[in-house]
Amino acid sequence: MIKLGRNDACWCGSGRKYKQCHEAFDKKIETFGRQGHKIPDHSIIKTPEQIEKIKRSAVINMACLDAVSEAIHEGMATSEIDKIVYETTTKMGGIPAPLNYEGFPYSVCTSVNDQICHGFPSDDVILKSGDIVNVDCSTILDGYYSDSSRMFMIGDVKPEVRELVEVTKECCDIGLAQVKPWGFIGDIGAAINEKATAHGYQIVREIGGHGVGLAFHEEPWVGYVTKAGTEMLMVPGMMFTIEPMINMGSCRIKTDPDNGWEVSTFDGSMSAQWEYQVLVTEDGYELISW
Ligand code: MF3
Ligand code: CO
Repeated sequence: MIKLGRNDACWCGSGRKYKQCHEAFDKKIETFGRQGHKIPDHSIIKTPEQIEKIKRSAVINMACLDAVSEAIHEGMATSEIDKIVYETTTKMGGIPAPLNYEGFPYSVCTSVNDQICHGFPSDDVILKSGDIVNVDCSTILDGYYSDSSRMFMIGDVKPEVRELVEVTKECCDIGLAQVKPWGFIGDIGAAINEKATAHGYQIVREIGGHGVGLAFHEEPWVGYVTKAGTEMLMVPGMMFTIEPMINMGSCRIKTDPDNGWEVSTFDGSMSAQWEYQVLVTEDGYELISW
């Protein structure tokens, strides 16, 4: 990182002198660094202008999920969901972020029942009563990224499966409540893990949340079996996802060997996930996409 002079223009783009802008902020962060904490780099601290642009991307992302929510029904192929997301996104001027991302061939991930994430939308996957499906949507608008996902329950879902879906949402909410400046990313995972394990569930370890906004996946990593007071320091302007994948059975996963993408529970148990995109603010958090 380039060391700024006190009279230089601040790195945040405000046009103000560093000493009147982010100097004290940087000093505070460095204090945490000297205490051995992981601290954020300027590159993941969003400026007000960037935040506005990311929010515009999120408007499209949430419009996609709203459109899916309106249309989803028993008997629908998950390829229909892909079509809705592609059309909604492009009509609003965006690009579906998953499409061609590291070779991912669709505009959205649709993960049904024991599928954990990265499910391929398909003409052959017809939603039936009792199914649960995660629809994970990500959008690029003018180079800015948004990312969130929701669960949908089709027809008559068994009470214990419904509970998995609902508790997973509650886990996201209690994780969200941990988001505040000068706390730690590990606080989020600790709260979520405590609640999930109290219900006898296990959380996937290998795949987690991530910084987002200027790129699809940035620092920090957001895991869900972390300890409070560990992982990266949270500071205003950081943006990341909270997206625990919670299994009714074992946390062990398997990846489809044919396509290298689709991840399912090893034991065939049901899995649920919700995803929020959140901004750390001066006094807490702001939900950006949900
Ligand atoms: N939306 C996923 C996430 O939450 C990313 C999926 S990568 C993709 O991070 F290529 F499958 F879209
Ligand atoms: Co994500």
